[in-house]
Amino acid sequence: MIKVLPSSNPCPEDKLIDYTKMLMKMDVEYLHCDVMDGKFVENKCLDFSVVEKIRNNTNILLDVHLMVENVFESVKKFAKLKPNFITIHYEALKSTKEFEKIVKYLRKKDILVGLSIRPNTPIEIVERFLKQIDLILIMSVEPGKSGQKFIENSIEKIKTTKKLIGDNRVIIEVDGGINEENAKSVIDAGAEFLVMGSAFYNSKDKLGLLHSIDNHYKKSK
Ligand code: DX5
Ligand code: ZN
Repeated sequence: MIKVLPSSNPCPEDKLIDYTKMLMKMDVEYLHCDVMDGKFVENKCLDFSVVEKIRNNTNILLDVHLMVENVFESVKKFAKLKPNFITIHYEALKSTKEFEKIVKYLRKKDILVGLSIRPNTPIEIVERFLKQIDLILIMSVEPGKSGQKFIENSIEKIKTTKKLIGDNRVIIEVDGGINEENAKSVIDAGAEFLVMGSAFYNSKDKLGLLHSIDNHYKKSK
């Protein structure tokens, strides 16, 4: 099932509740929450309190993307908000042991586990984590800001990931530079969750955009 997940990133933080309410009227299921600590990536955004307000004022499902250095501490904090997914970055992990601890922690709380990789990290490294995760987030731009251009070789990465996943039940999510045009090749390559920041936020016909992606999926089935 293909899902478009609008990201929090291009929306001013004080407008996020209204933005989320509008998304819910369009039957969007998830808000992709971009959390940046100013260390793992240069920018800093989406304090816990902002996401907490979204949680307390709307029923949208949350997909939390942690672009932070201090992974376990952030996981514990955001887990309190009962998001559906928490995704952490492979590059931020201190050790495999730390990852195992995080997985155990999230499983206990019934939160699905995502693992993300930056564009220059070889996809093959995720192979050893496939049995432990629910979602793999392939970054198709350098994490840190919205509005960047989609890196074309991400398509090959998605195809390789699909092969590596095989029979494991792991969702492929892609994030960065996705728009109406390239969404189709992202879906054809094997992605199920498409994060959309600026293309969605700036679209004058958001419902039309959602329908066009949905129709492509139905045709390609
Ligand atoms: C980038 C973030 C993305 C970003 C997507 O670091 O993880 O979620 O908001 O924005 P666009 O779609 O504009 O690249
Ligand atoms: Zn993101």
